[in-house]
Amino acid sequence: MTQHYLTVDSLSAGELLAVLDLADELKADRRWREDLHGCSIGMIFEKPSTRTRISFEVAIRELGGHPVVLNTGDLQLGRGETIEDTARVLSRYLSAVVVRTFAQSPLELLAGAGSIPVINALTDFSHPCQVLADLQTIREYKGHLSGLKLAYLGDGNNVAHSLLRAGALTGMHVAVASPPGYEPIPQVVGVAERHAREHGGTVTVTADPLEAAADADVVYTDVWASMGQEVEHDARLLLFRPYQVGSQVMQAARPDAIVLHCLPAHRDEEIAASVLDGDQSVVWTQAENRLHTQKALLLHLLTGGEDQRDGAQTAHLPADAPVRTPSRW
Ligand code: CP
Ligand code: NVA
Repeated sequence: MTQHYLTVDSLSAGELLAVLDLADELKADRRWREDLHGCSIGMIFEKPSTRTRISFEVAIRELGGHPVVLNTGDLQLGRGETIEDTARVLSRYLSAVVVRTFAQSPLELLAGAGSIPVINALTDFSHPCQVLADLQTIREYKGHLSGLKLAYLGDGNNVAHSLLRAGALTGMHVAVASPPGYEPIPQVVGVAERHAREHGGTVTVTADPLEAAADADVVYTDVWASMGQEVEHDARLLLFRPYQVGSQVMQAARPDAIVLHCLPAHRDEEIAASVLDGDQSVVWTQAENRLHTQKALLLHLLTGGEDQRDGAQTAHLPADAPVRTPSRW
């Protein structure tokens, strides 16, 4: 069966950790590989992107595959062709498709109608590729995940949703502080609480930024107005001000806490410039790790994560390709 990556819990906890282990190996050995030789991978972006788009394109090339970058305006989707028909056609050409869009439902339709893995490169609901890099970065600096406290301050948005699920799946104590009315949606908090019970972590949602930050090992924030919410920017500045990651928040956290931000950042809005550019910030490593974790994710979805450097097997190719094909096709 085709495995997709639509939300963090498209992967089991075990698969998530295996992808992180593979990402560590790929980071340690950045040599170009041929695992995805013969694979064309579509990338459809309906919103701007620096990190996700470039890191996926580079990841596909470094694994020997061929990225096919598309804007929805270039596709017949923009003229009314259905998502399901698009999925059926893409499945005849491509080995996987990476999509950044607004709602989560088009991804589910693509996944349901097509026969290739669909990867969520950000929706309004979730950003599961981002949190793979976040977890790799936390492990890199802290050595482990389970038992750590992660404090997320700000909007209960796509990034917060994915962090809640990923943190809980890996046994972290995740505390989210958001202004009233901007909390993560209860359905996501409920799923995260279930994961936390199963994996030994906890989930806290509060309006008090210092409660969330208290003794945190990891302090995380994201923009206050996400893509598509630009008109709300000025109103949100006032409301979110107490949630800025600044010196008071950093004093509440552990002295050895690291600071993460998915980027792009707005200095002196959601994060003080002195914190973003300070010693505890690891955001540039976090951005680099988008590349390694997405390479690992592609290998997991397309080859089962096996090392294919000896050329024993070729990763997913369209059905009639004249090579030995894995059983999922
Ligand atoms: N963090 C992130 O997804 O960045 P981009 O929007 O630049 O891809
Ligand atoms: N929450 C932000 C994340 C950007 C990577 C947004 O959706 O714009």
